[in-house]
Amino acid sequence: MTLSLNKDKIRFLLLEGVHENALKVLNEAGYTNIEYIKSALDEAELIEKIKDAHFIGIRSRTQLTRKVLEAAQKLICIGCYCIGTNQVDLEAALELGIPVFNAPFSNTRSVAELVLAETIMLMRGVPEKNAVVHRGGWNKSAKDSYEVRGKTMGIVGYGSIGSQLSVLAESLGMRVIYHDAVTKLPLGNAVQVGSLDELLAKADVVTLHVPDLPSTRNMMTAKEFAQMKDGAFFINAARGGCVDIDALADALASKKLLGAAIDVFPKEPKSADEEFESPLRAFDNVILTPHVGGSTQEAQANIGLEVAEKFVRYSDQGDTTSAVNFPNVAIPFAEGTHRLLHIHRNVPGVLSQINASFADAGINIAAQSLMTKGDIGYLVMDVDDNDSDKALQRLRAVAETIRVRVLF
Ligand code: NAI
Repeated sequence: MTLSLNKDKIRFLLLEGVHENALKVLNEAGYTNIEYIKSALDEAELIEKIKDAHFIGIRSRTQLTRKVLEAAQKLICIGCYCIGTNQVDLEAALELGIPVFNAPFSNTRSVAELVLAETIMLMRGVPEKNAVVHRGGWNKSAKDSYEVRGKTMGIVGYGSIGSQLSVLAESLGMRVIYHDAVTKLPLGNAVQVGSLDELLAKADVVTLHVPDLPSTRNMMTAKEFAQMKDGAFFINAARGGCVDIDALADALASKKLLGAAIDVFPKEPKSADEEFESPLRAFDNVILTPHVGGSTQEAQANIGLEVAEKFVRYSDQGDTTSAVNFPNVAIPFAEGTHRLLHIHRNVPGVLSQINASFADAGINIAAQSLMTKGDIGYLVMDVDDNDSDKALQRLRAVAETIRVRVLF
């Protein structure tokens, strides 16, 4: 169980050289007990270091396995200073009452800019021309070379990236149509179309910005490529599993499509030592990038801010908004109260047991919010500041308690 600590007693372990913005945010919020390490640690070192940490910040190389997490007796929160969270055993973290945060939206602009640039390059045939000139050729021709102005961009998935791209594309004079699983408010003059089929039939360039879901797996197969306009272009910077790459290669080989730009692949090399294999390597008119759509200095800086701010909000207020594995709870602070954070096993009757116990002790609850996820319940309560000691004792007595903290 964890009690409220003075800020200087709350220990942060930041690994893998996370962006220094994280340090700035933590320091400005009064957290100075920070160990900053530039590299990842091997399992033995990690287990040793994590023992004293209340918060750990990692990027993609640190493996937070069940074994490591069970050794982390003081740990209350994990921050992934990246997008992916596969490196963390999310289930184990949930069971141990540890929320995990990441930074899903820090690189939105980076992806949108790359896709816009690729649209221009593809419509001018630059990838192929560039390859030919590199080989000593000189194919000076305007054939299949177009301005983007007045052309139609078809955006599949009008979320953070899709909608940002929409604004950028319109600023270049493109028409934008989009298809989304749900009705989305159009930005600018963009128009939502009724179906993917309709989008494919109308767009000069089709670009995917959907998440990796069963419904988006192989959403582009031979059938969908056949529905596209002759001589259109295709871009995927979403997830590799969304596209049947062999079908795309066929559409390029038959000149149904004039070009493509692909940043994500069904099978990506795990390291720089592994060879990238794909039938798309054969095509000069395809821009291939190694999953770098969101990899910019600005995105790293944003990630530093975004995750550190989530650390501060959890530490200061118990706010778990956007935690990837954990019930999301956020309530505003009320004057003259202390806040209790209670993480418990999710079985029927815990809330009524707590409320009865508080009523019995004459503790008035000023605010209360409970959310559950799987086997875990997360209850945030504000009580009169004179009652918080008593309330803490009562919460500790609840058999289902995993962790309890009080915030002053
Ligand atoms: P988001 O969650 O903000 O937007 C996704 C949109 O897709 C939502 O509007 C959703 O309603 C829609 N959608 C879901 N299922 C759909 C379906 N079956 N058909 C049509 N629309 C559907 O996500 P965000 O941040 O815009 O990211 C989009 C994709 O970009 C994700 O797959 C993400 O992993 C990927 N990404 C790739 C990066 C890279 O380095 N290449 C970097 C960042 C994100």
